[in-house]
Amino acid sequence: MQNKITSLFDIEYPIVQAGMIWASGWRLASAASNSGILGIIGAGSMYPEVLREHIQKCKKATSKPFGVNVPMLYPNIEEIMDIIVEEGVKIVFTSAGNPKTWTSWLKERGITVVHVVSSVKFALKAEQAGVDAVVAEGFEAGGHNGREETTTFTLIPMVREKLSIPLIAAGGIATGSGMLAAMVLGADGVQIGSRFVASEEASSHINFKQKVVEANEGETQLTLKELAPVRLIKNKFYNDLQELYAKGPSVEELKELLGRARAKKGMFEGDLVEGELEIGQISGLINDIKPVADIVEEIINDFNQVKEKAKTF
Ligand SMILES: Cc1cc2nc3c(=O)[nH]c(=O)nc-3n(C[C@H](O)[C@H](O)[C@H](O)COP(=O)(O)O)c2cc1C
Repeated sequence: MQNKITSLFDIEYPIVQAGMIWASGWRLASAASNSGILGIIGAGSMYPEVLREHIQKCKKATSKPFGVNVPMLYPNIEEIMDIIVEEGVKIVFTSAGNPKTWTSWLKERGITVVHVVSSVKFALKAEQAGVDAVVAEGFEAGGHNGREETTTFTLIPMVREKLSIPLIAAGGIATGSGMLAAMVLGADGVQIGSRFVASEEASSHINFKQKVVEANEGETQLTLKELAPVRLIKNKFYNDLQELYAKGPSVEELKELLGRARAKKGMFEGDLVEGELEIGQISGLINDIKPVADIVEEIINDFNQVKEKAKTF
């Protein structure tokens, strides 16, 4: 398959394994890259020197291109960016911040830059900032998300209408038919997160992976809009949040309940009760934990079959 996204990243299929805190370390990223898609290390949950280690291990585990995802809401960004340059990473996905802040700096250093957005307005801002491509992420996506609640199905054609640079769709895509649908709506490629959480190579805790497999339709919710909106599984922590919301809490009270290491506790340490479990709506369609190579093969086979079938519509 050859298109703008495969050429931009020098990969076989126009699929990006999403950068994900507590899930996408070097094992997942290198397995994804070795499967012909773009593997991404999620820097958001890593101290700078931990990130350096993951990049070095990833370079040893694959000769294919891979990238690093940097959510700009976390500390130590300058140190993180320096390490990315020192270690010769060629692709950076930025998210959760202003695309102007780092794009020129990274591009001057020969790095391909992609920014993640959840609205047409921010897609245009990213284009103006000079990024090479945009990930447009719908409301159904796992993890941090926009406040606008625009679904992937509506966001992609609206962004496509205004944007001339390559467009990657994210949110609710876990199959080849989902990928084909996104591309029919105007995307040049897709970014997939939740499906890769339930992979053997994801660094997330096995309890969390199993919880993703068990999750049914309607078991996730976008919440904490007052802080940084996040889609997660409705567990005890979520219910505690709901109780607090019923009292009309201040931002400070919400911050206090969230605390410091909720996401790590849930997704990395496997505490399904008190932890924060970030996952997308499409978890309702994920039924097994498999090696990344098998997931990619399945997506590509499904994509090709559905594309053939579509000719008879
Ligand atoms: C566990 C988890 C952690 C995530 N962490 C990040 C992150 O660190 N940075 C980021 O830009 N997006 C993050 N996301 C969003 C993904 O990069 C991706 O855009 C999203 O998962 C796509 O939607 P899907 O989950 O429906 O496939 C995360 C998603 C999940 C499920």
